[in-house]
Amino acid sequence: LFAGPCNFFFGAQKLDQLPVPAAPEIAFAGRSNVGKSSLINALTGRKALARASSEPGRTKQLNFFDLGGRLTLVDMPGYGYAKAAKDVKEDWQGMMFAYLRGRPTLRRVILLLDARIEIKTSDHEIMTLLDRAAVTFEIVLTKCDALRPGSLEVKRAQVADLARQHPAAYPEILLTSSENGLGVPELRASLASLALP
Ligand code: GTP
Ligand code: MG
Repeated sequence: LFAGPCNFFFGAQKLDQLPVPAAPEIAFAGRSNVGKSSLINALTGRKALARASSEPGRTKQLNFFDLGGRLTLVDMPGYGYAKAAKDVKEDWQGMMFAYLRGRPTLRRVILLLDARIEIKTSDHEIMTLLDRAAVTFEIVLTKCDALRPGSLEVKRAQVADLARQHPAAYPEILLTSSENGLGVPELRASLASLALP
């Protein structure tokens, strides 16, 4: 699946512009700068399929990537970016939430948390929203290359406790790094199980 063709095919800035639902969709959600676009690049083995940047607020629309007609990856704008203009923030947020709640082909959300930083209110809010919408989500810790193994295990245990409080969350927490590829094959395998044959 991930070795085959992979193409950007749609960018939606508004809810009424979403592509016609077709293949199962996996959405990548998380705070601004957490590493969503970088993880999509790591998964697909392309350097710049999704545009990543050290500047938060890089992804400004819902970007749809097609994997051979069998699975669609959706790169979302980040939430919790304090510097974005208020109206822009509300637009993104509104679109994101509406998409997460109402998309018929959405099969799973990959919820990214930066392993190095504390979990924020906006992270708790999105988990609650996913519980209510009954969209299963898989929590992935990002930037694990930047932590010592001991601290990583502490963080994993802490996040696993949090996942247990959310009915829509997977119990297992995946440690990843787009820099050194940690956890990438495991995440590919998990996503492949949701693809069309
Ligand atoms: P927005 O589109 O703004 O919401 O951000 P994003 O979540 O798509 O983050 P993006 O992939 O653009 O990455 C943000 C920054 O984090 C970039 O400077 C990346 O190089 C860096 N980064 C992403 N993944 C990793 C990682 O695994 N390890 C390290 N050390 N840095 C990473
Ligand atoms: Mg991005």
